[in-house]
Amino acid sequence: MLETKIAPSILAGNFSCIGEEVERLTANGADLVHCDVMDGNFVPPITFGAQMVESIRPHTALGLDCHLMVARPETQIESFARAGADIISIHLEACGKNTVRLMRKIKEWGVRACAVVNPETPVERLFDTVEEADMLLVMSVHPGWGGQKFIAGTYEKLRKLRAFCIANGKEEMDIEVDGGVTSQNVKEIVAAGANVIVAGSAVFRSVDMRGTIAELRGE
Ligand code: DX5
Ligand code: ZN
Repeated sequence: MLETKIAPSILAGNFSCIGEEVERLTANGADLVHCDVMDGNFVPPITFGAQMVESIRPHTALGLDCHLMVARPETQIESFARAGADIISIHLEACGKNTVRLMRKIKEWGVRACAVVNPETPVERLFDTVEEADMLLVMSVHPGWGGQKFIAGTYEKLRKLRAFCIANGKEEMDIEVDGGVTSQNVKEIVAAGANVIVAGSAVFRSVDMRGTIAELRGE
């Protein structure tokens, strides 16, 4: 059984003191820090870029999981790598046929590479990236906003993806899920095959951050 890792999204944190927010996540048992990068083009909102990741870097020893919701990820890989990203996730919807080539480029920087699919994209589109991937991300909400409801069709996508990874000798593959995760639905999500769990609202809106992170991890 793969270990479940919790990656709280700072999108739900207070942007006026993001360093402290990252320290709070670290002190309360997070496994990764999920950084939602939005460019106002691939998705309507704008959040932050590589400079923010560079500012966060000294505030935690945890891995920085950078989810690039940007139209042209190829222009950002070097900046995020230099800023201290540990994982860079790129969307198939933005990279198309270049996805695997860009994943190689990410890995040349010594950063882990992850491919992402949106809810409307068939999960089978990820299959071609499995050989190159350090992680695969299945969006369980439409990217752009925190606080949305988990899309139930994601369970089947996770089952198919986990089965494909196992069938291809990648039993240990990290499969991440992002959006609408709560302590109510997390067990079913993990049972479907995800082992890296992004949670924004669930972690930051809770009164007991440590308890919520532990609960999400299944403790
Ligand atoms: C959505 C982002 C998610 C989001 C998750 O575009 O990629 O990471 O912050 O937030 P919750 O957990 O609130 O759905
Ligand atoms: Zn995200």
